Amino acid sequence: MAAPDRNMALEMVRGTEAAAMAAGRWMGKGDKNAADAAAVLAMRNMLNSVAMDGEIVIGEGEKDKTEFLFTGEKVGTGDPPSVDIALDPIDGTRLTSLGLPGAISVVAVSDKGSIIRPPYMFYINKIIVGPEASDVIDIEAPVEENIQRVAKRKGKAVDDVTVVVLDRPRHEDLISEIRKAGARIKLIPDGDIAGALLTCKNQMGTDLLIGIGGSSEAVITACAIKAFGGNMQCQIWAKDAHEAARAREMGIDLDKILGLDDLVKSDNVFFAATGITDGEFLEGVRYEGSFIRTSSMVVRSRSGTIRYVEGIHRPQKLALISDVDYLKGI
Ligand code: FBP
Repeated sequence: MAAPDRNMALEMVRGTEAAAMAAGRWMGKGDKNAADAAAVLAMRNMLNSVAMDGEIVIGEGEKDKTEFLFTGEKVGTGDPPSVDIALDPIDGTRLTSLGLPGAISVVAVSDKGSIIRPPYMFYINKIIVGPEASDVIDIEAPVEENIQRVAKRKGKAVDDVTVVVLDRPRHEDLISEIRKAGARIKLIPDGDIAGALLTCKNQMGTDLLIGIGGSSEAVITACAIKAFGGNMQCQIWAKDAHEAARAREMGIDLDKILGLDDLVKSDNVFFAATGITDGEFLEGVRYEGSFIRTSSMVVRSRSGTIRYVEGIHRPQKLALISDVDYLKGI
């Protein structure tokens, strides 16, 4: 039997906490770029302290478009292990800038070379379910059939099934189909990583996420779903004939179904998330003068252990040891 080894999610959570504490200062201030910049610097500062040879495979964008935490940037001390990192310092930048619920900060870590690099210019259509009904979804089957199968597997009526959907015009038909099937809908304005993870959180009464969202978010979600033990199927989505032609030119098969193992080819995945604004998935950051309280969750696929981490941080003390100003969020 192998001895218990390192759980990197417990180290990554310091990065998501730092990003959340810095970003949370910008809540409701109407400046999503400032919130994002603060989160990026705080997360990068913390990730660089971790003993690892990390390469960002899902990051803030390409190198020439973004200075920090770009795709391809190396993070960590450079010591083993070599790992892939998928991160989003803020999923829900608009939510943060408007003070709306559901913004989180996330980092996933997996074995080197195991996380897919999706063509970032395309959206991804996906269906996601929690562990209890992980074997019944089929992205090619009608939405109604998926809902019925999940209801049956979970021993509930179709009327009790709740589906999370991003509130977008492109989902008009999907919303009609879900309503026709008789299920309930939770429309979210942004933040489909947290929306997807509600399906894995016990007693949230949320069963599925269906719909089209960002490709980076889809891959990060896949890492998390793998860690939680749920299931996910996706297809790269072209919004019109022009995009479909471009996909064909790039050799992308829009009919191909990508399962969890296509998105993350490893069973050793670590995931950490911290709430920025209050949400169903995690509470947001609380600033209490002498301390800042954060609410996080860490998961590891190999063990399946889920931990809720409440952080009590001392900004005055951190000011003496950190480059990040958690009193102001810069
Ligand atoms: P950002 O925080 O990066 O802006 O992403 C928010 C988000 O809602 C994601 O959760 C989602 O996958 C994506 O945007 C959907 O994209 P769009 O807003 O273009 O429909």
